[in-house]
Formats: sequence, C-alpha cells, structure tokens
Amino acid sequence: MPHLSSDATPTPGWNHRHLLDLERLSGDEIRLLLDTAARFKEATDGCRRKLAVLTGRTIVNLFFENSTRTKTSFALAARRLGADVVDFSASGSSLSKGESFIDTAKNLEAMGVDAVVVRHATPGTPHLLAQHLDVGVINAGDGPHEHPTQGLLDIFSIRERRGDLAGVTVGLVGDIAHSRTARSNLWGLLKLGAKVILCGPPTLVSSRWREVGVEVSHDLDAIVPRCDVLNLLRIQFERQNTRPFPSVREYAHLYAMTRERLKRARRDLLILAPGPINRGVEVTADVADCPQSLILDQVTNGLAVRMGVLWLICGPREDASIETAATPAEGRFV
Ligand code: CP
Repeated sequence: MPHLSSDATPTPGWNHRHLLDLERLSGDEIRLLLDTAARFKEATDGCRRKLAVLTGRTIVNLFFENSTRTKTSFALAARRLGADVVDFSASGSSLSKGESFIDTAKNLEAMGVDAVVVRHATPGTPHLLAQHLDVGVINAGDGPHEHPTQGLLDIFSIRERRGDLAGVTVGLVGDIAHSRTARSNLWGLLKLGAKVILCGPPTLVSSRWREVGVEVSHDLDAIVPRCDVLNLLRIQFERQNTRPFPSVREYAHLYAMTRERLKRARRDLLILAPGPINRGVEVTADVADCPQSLILDQVTNGLAVRMGVLWLICGPREDASIETAATPAEGRFV
C-alpha cells in the first residue's frame, strides 16, 4: 500500500479546499482547472483508461436532485483514478427520521471520506456544507445558482476546438433565470475574455445581467449570425411557479435552434447543450445530431474535467503525478 499523505504537496496555483462556484475563481485558476483536465484527457487516452493516482481516496456522491450525467461522471472519474465511490441516496436514509442535512454529512465525513460531491435544490447548500466539513466539497449543482463542473466542461469543449477563449462570442440561449449552467458559463467565459450574449424571452432573461458585462438579447435570429458558439439551455419547468411564455410551441418557434437558423449561422458555429436536451423545444433533433454539435463530446469532456477537479480537491498522492503514472493495465502501477 503506498504511503498516503494528508498534506500532499498542493498543486501550484491552486489554493482551494473546495470547488463551490466559478464566480469567485480567477481567470488563472479556471485556466489551471482546464489545463489539468486536458492533462487527464491525454494521459487516459481520451478518458477511456485508468490512471490510479487517487488510490486510497474515497468520494461520496450526495445527490438530493436527479442526475444522469453529473453523478455518473463523478463516479466514473473517481474510479478511473483509483478512488472508491459511495453513492448516498437521500430516499432510504435516516433523513426521513429527522436527521439534519449537516448531521448526515458530518456522519459521512466521520467514515473517512476525502471529498463530498453535492447536488441540492437550495442555492448555497455546498457553501453551507463547506463551513461544517473539513473535507473537500464539490458543487454538483445548487438550485439555479451554479454548476461549476458543467461550466468548466462546456468551456473546455469550446477551448478544444477554438483555442484561446479571448474574443470568442458565446450565446447562452434559453431559461437563463433558472439555469445554474448559464451562471457558471458566464462567469467562466467572462474571466477568460469571451464575449457573452444571453438570449431568451424577457421573462427568462433579465436586462440586469448587462451590469456584469454581458449583452442581453431577446431575438435569437438577430444573434445567431454573430455567434461562434451557441449553448442551448433547457427550460426548467420544475423550478418555475408560473409559465413564462404562452406555450412550448410558441417558445420553440422563437428560440429553438433549427436547421433554418443554422443556415444563417457561421459555417463553423459550435452547438452545445448541457443536457438533458428536450428535442423540439430548445433544439430540433436534426441540429442536436448535426456535425457542429458537441453535445456528446461535452459528456466525454465532463470526465476529464471531473478527474482534474478530484485531483486538485482530494490532493494528489505524493508519489503520483499525472504524466508519470502508468495505467494498471500496463502492470507498472500499484
Ligand atoms: N448537465 C447535467 O447536469 O446533467 P444531469 O442533471 O443529468 O447531471
């Protein structure tokens, strides 16, 4: 068993115990996260192979909202790095007996986990947890507030195709009011020098966003020809008390990315969507599956980003580095 140090040498440029949001990270810290993800993608042959650099670490997935991509991706990323993963399920837990959220988390911490990946409907839940736990807390989505690893993987996918983000124009289209993905994207993109346009109906895109340096538009047809990237966001009906537009059909007519709109876009426009996608609402099926669509590349890149985040948050093993670690399949690594 290799020696594990609880105070392994921190990665230069990274001084955070938690990953709670992108709003409070600097451009250099976001670049470090993206660069680390790129190193893992390369070292694992496109996220397909194992690289046992976090052997002996334990990650707990603490999800209080549904998830397909994020929960699976964190679990796979952790296992590819040799860490153990525990999936905590709120239903069937002692929360039903009145145990508090913080007590639940502290009990999991007492079992010796190294990081907690948390998703919760209430904004700020990961921040609250970080005040009570000594181990790393990673925000996997807190209500409509932020979804930092989604923002990172979206930006990573753009950077892979376009290189430097400076000067790249990204349109975030749809339900900005309820989208944690939109928030994490806009903070990350602004810090890397991209131009951000928020687009959607006035009921879902407040003009107050202009105060942070983004453009606000309610006319998708006007912005499509100007964008290098469109990130198409789902309408989050589950977070809305009243319907923000008369009908889904009318919304789709005005804001769905369609083949007709694609004809008026730049030839090299990149189409992103964080998923889950609702075909026929924010994007038509043919556009979701067209060559410019990075939707499934984003999912693969999510693994690389989460490997990088786990590595930075859990603390690298002192005898392990990304480039020198061999895969278990090669028989050279413990
Ligand atoms: N994009 C995203 O967060 O997907 P899940 O809700 O399936 O995790």
